[in-house]
Amino acid sequence: MEKDKLWWKNEIFYQIYPRSFQDSNGDGIGDLQGIISRLDYIKDLGITAIWLSPIYKSPMVDMGYDISDYQAIDPIFGTMADFDELMEEAQKRDIKIIMDLVVNHTSDQHPWFKEAISNPESPYRDFYYFKKTKDGKKPNNWRSIFGGSTWEPVPNEPGNFYFNSFSKYQPDLNWENPKLRKVIYKMINWWLEKGVAGFRVDAINFLKKDQDWKSLPADANDGLVSVIHKGQNRPGLEVFLDELKHETFEKYNAVTVGEAYGLTPAETKKMVGKNGSFSMVFDFGYMNIEVEDIDEWFRGQRDWTIPELRKLLFETQMELQGTDGWLATVLENHDQPRVLSKLIKNKSDQTATAAKALATMYFFLPGDPFVYQGQELGMKNTQFDNISKFKDINTMKNYQIMLDNGCSKEQALKMINFESRDNARTPMQWNGSEKAGFTTGNPWIELGNDRVGINVADEQTDPESTLNFYRQMISVRKEHQNILINGNLSEINDVPENIIAYKRELDDHELLVWVNLCDKVSKLPEKVEGKVLLNNYDDYSSREYRELDPYQAIVIYQ
Ligand code: GLC
Ligand code: CA
Repeated sequence: MEKDKLWWKNEIFYQIYPRSFQDSNGDGIGDLQGIISRLDYIKDLGITAIWLSPIYKSPMVDMGYDISDYQAIDPIFGTMADFDELMEEAQKRDIKIIMDLVVNHTSDQHPWFKEAISNPESPYRDFYYFKKTKDGKKPNNWRSIFGGSTWEPVPNEPGNFYFNSFSKYQPDLNWENPKLRKVIYKMINWWLEKGVAGFRVDAINFLKKDQDWKSLPADANDGLVSVIHKGQNRPGLEVFLDELKHETFEKYNAVTVGEAYGLTPAETKKMVGKNGSFSMVFDFGYMNIEVEDIDEWFRGQRDWTIPELRKLLFETQMELQGTDGWLATVLENHDQPRVLSKLIKNKSDQTATAAKALATMYFFLPGDPFVYQGQELGMKNTQFDNISKFKDINTMKNYQIMLDNGCSKEQALKMINFESRDNARTPMQWNGSEKAGFTTGNPWIELGNDRVGINVADEQTDPESTLNFYRQMISVRKEHQNILINGNLSEINDVPENIIAYKRELDDHELLVWVNLCDKVSKLPEKVEGKVLLNNYDDYSSREYRELDPYQAIVIYQ
């Protein structure tokens, strides 16, 4: 019974960003029929569950994370009938589907908000945060995640404002209002009744805002302070999250994956496990080692080291060791640059070998591994030569602030090419042709410029490809499920500076992961031997390792 309850510990997730996955009708935008046509590819990879980024009706200011109808499919993606077909086709292949649940905010085009903003007497006003001030000034100095004040004036009502944590197009829902919460639960249960296996829950740590709404000392020249200090991971958040779980997910034994940047390991521990609010949360501990601040990356790059990465990789894991908590392990998503470009500093080292080394590093940690579309191909950041080619609202904000702070256009463009979320949003590379097999029309965003060689068609037939390495990793994961799910984790210490190594142990068995993250041969502190389950170099026959080649990764079973 208990085991069954934790069914989701066995899953291997694949994240689809529908807009950029597969276009079926030539309009240059990926859609549901496109996804259906690629289910065999996903199945063949060994994936057992899909997370779909938002496909709900939306004005797409934040590419679907601004929802104007929670129970309708946006026409650019298809219809509800297409969605039902996708569910059915996925089920035939034993693939589960989880949806993206964005309930911190709606679009400003949601009927609730339209009604709220145009009618002061509307009960929907309490679905959001409206605040009047006597002096006509904004209620406080908080800065939104996508730039500018969190307060937007209400038209024709001087001194009245509404609140948004992200952008003015994404007004925050008022979770303090029980009526709002009830409506949201009903909507969630409607999807669960439809048969979705669960949700990736967006921006969960924003649901609670400090109700004193007080200003804080400014943290930049604009006189504002990031909203995260008063509206992210705030006391009382857990009360909302627990109720949400009890009223919805729990009743259906659904899987939930929380998205929460900025959690400490101890905060993460509280979010998961039997008494936590989610089945798992993403481990973002090591996700943004490359920048000063992920919400405000205009602040620049960081010079980080492998020992630092190693520390972050194990930090939350060790906090959870011995508890019933569980993580979602991850290298990429639609909010991040490509991992190969992010973590491998030297361009000439951003090879398939390095892609496999990074993959090996995270795939055998405790947790459900998530693979983001194209990651399994070793896709890299693209290089756009002009700001006009970027589509992402958050990228635009960071660009503007860099210019405002005196950065040259070239410098700002360079930083954007390094960190923009659009790096992950260029179309999936199905083949090496001009349009990469993604569309027959004009793609909504320019294609990546690494598609020759880094694409499904070429990699399918190459036994040494990154794609086939992911296939192998997934089969190792399935074959050694017991040790990988239930085994103890320990970091292997006293290794050379550029090596990351760990051990999974259960009963009398050990699974060892050794990864060399540099371009030089590294001597191992001790001889490593056993059955070689994985190796990104062509020397399987060896049963004994005393050193690792540049970016070599091995997985050994004893
Ligand atoms: C999450 C999403 C991101 C979106 C933001 C606001 O962080 O992953 O894409 O912009 O929430 O909804
Ligand atoms: Ca389309």
